[in-house]
Amino acid sequence: MNILLLGSGGREHALAWKIAQSPQLDKLYIAPGNAGTASVGVNIPVKADDFQSIREFVLDKGIDMVVVGPEDPLVKGIYDFFRNDPLISAIPVIGPSRDAAQLEGSKDFAKRFMQRHGIPTAAYRTFTAETLEDGLAFLETLKAPYVLKADGLCAGKGVLILPTLDEARKELKEMLQGMFGNASSRVIIEEFMSGIECSVFALTDGRHYKILPEAKDYKRVGEHDTGLNTGGMGSVSPVPFATKEWMRKVEDRIVRPTVEGLAAEGLDYKGFIFFGLINVDGEPKVIEYNVRMGDPETETVMLRLKSDILELFKGVAGGNLDTKTLEQDERSAVCVMLVSGGYPQHYDKGFVITGLDKVTDSIVFHAGTALNQKGQVVTAGGRVIAVSSYGKDKEEALALSFKGASMIDFEKKHFRRDIGQDL
Ligand code: AMP
Ligand code: GLY
Repeated sequence: MNILLLGSGGREHALAWKIAQSPQLDKLYIAPGNAGTASVGVNIPVKADDFQSIREFVLDKGIDMVVVGPEDPLVKGIYDFFRNDPLISAIPVIGPSRDAAQLEGSKDFAKRFMQRHGIPTAAYRTFTAETLEDGLAFLETLKAPYVLKADGLCAGKGVLILPTLDEARKELKEMLQGMFGNASSRVIIEEFMSGIECSVFALTDGRHYKILPEAKDYKRVGEHDTGLNTGGMGSVSPVPFATKEWMRKVEDRIVRPTVEGLAAEGLDYKGFIFFGLINVDGEPKVIEYNVRMGDPETETVMLRLKSDILELFKGVAGGNLDTKTLEQDERSAVCVMLVSGGYPQHYDKGFVITGLDKVTDSIVFHAGTALNQKGQVVTAGGRVIAVSSYGKDKEEALALSFKGASMIDFEKKHFRRDIGQDL
């Protein structure tokens, strides 16, 4: 099969790495990819949301399947773009339709969906500029901390957790006055849930589903969960509190009702569903849905997926995912993310990365990297390199990732040395 993978981060390098292991693969292209994906496939200079150029490429190269990494093209409707064009409508796109992608594209949509299907999540209400006064009054009825969420996509910045009522009132006003542009024209105010988070992933063909290995993500930039939120500073799989019993609850109360709910509402969904969960006194609740894999969770989940991913994708496309098997690797996998100094705020790019080929006991996934004119690998983003490792347990895997993390160097490199320690 000829595969086109869309995206350019660590998640896409990990997906490309896994796809490249499939005996069914002929050619793998990544649009636009990064310096790492170029080692397992062919990068093409096409943006992941440039649908017309993707269409031309797919026709020109005889692409058999398009796999979508990030949410952006999905929320913009790449699935529907393919379905509605007779020349490319037979080429499967792994990812949901635009309507179904609203599960990530609109938090209000996601909350209403969960309510309709009895899926456990925080109590909430949605407000607009017209109902600001009601929103302020609603805040008075809640206890600190206060959770405010912009309805639309804000590149991970749209959630504010505020310790005092005064701050919550101020931020609510600012959000509704366009702090995140149109994305915060609606704001969700939500009950605060206290617990440990866990990312659960399923692959669905719209009727059947398979649950992938779960992972825990480390979101704050600083050790012991301090500092600003980032895209993710590392991940660990498996997650010790995600026992068989807990995962049974997740499947019965969350995964199955979600897939059945999508089908019942006629929302076309053939791809990954990411359940951002929190464990509240032993009970899983949904914080958010994403319509793609997580980053940096993919950099551990792909290590623990034993089965041929293209065989699973064929099941997704063909509507017979129930006939495929998803086998998990029993080993632990961890990922330590090397980031640019200053991230998630201002950081510089273009620093030469050294030591990449010295790392032999880990799998090095590139996130924000590029090749400069001299052919050197340089930093090109906030999150730069994911050092992923296997181990018989997480300690063994972490030791390898930290060893790798210290061998790779670039100016102002930063990483968290406490990944996995809280588990
Ligand atoms: P989201 O973008 O919805 O994943 O939110 C970003 C982060 O904010 C989550 O990963 C949680 O750490 C935190 N968060 C979001 N909603 C809640 C909530 N209702 N209670 C507690 N923490 C939350
Ligand atoms: N690691 C969280 C995310 O991908 O959204």
